[in-house]
Amino acid sequence: LEIALWVIVVLEATYLFYDIFSAKAKEKNGTTNWVEVGNLDDFKPGNVYPFVNEKFYLSVLEDGGMLAISTKCTHLGCSVEHKAEGFLCPCHGSEFDKYGMVTEPPATRALDIYPIKIKGGKIFVDLAHPVKRKKFEKSQLTYANR
Ligand code: FES
Repeated sequence: LEIALWVIVVLEATYLFYDIFSAKAKEKNGTTNWVEVGNLDDFKPGNVYPFVNEKFYLSVLEDGGMLAISTKCTHLGCSVEHKAEGFLCPCHGSEFDKYGMVTEPPATRALDIYPIKIKGGKIFVDLAHPVKRKKFEKSQLTYANR
């Protein structure tokens, strides 16, 4: 019986160690998942650029402010499509403007955004950390020279 108890203790300890270790690994991956999007100069103000595989749109506003907007509709998760002035969800008709703000229900919350950083003239987006938001705020914008 004593041996059986020791086996259980050792198994528990191993499991615990593995659990902590894998949690750390996830955390590490999360902090390093910056995806290179391209050269800053290739993205012109007033345009929305689709990144189909990465599932986001890079929206570059007229003043150069940038948003990396998730394609995932905040209603039930379908992929939104880029339309003239914003985004349209083909599933139930939600519409969003170029900031990702809801302009037509049933969605009630703005599209998620991803953090952006600019380094060495290139744009990077952190796909591991989608940011939920109720609505657009200026503080969500990333600028090249500010
Ligand atoms: Fe987009 Fe329903 S999933 S409107």
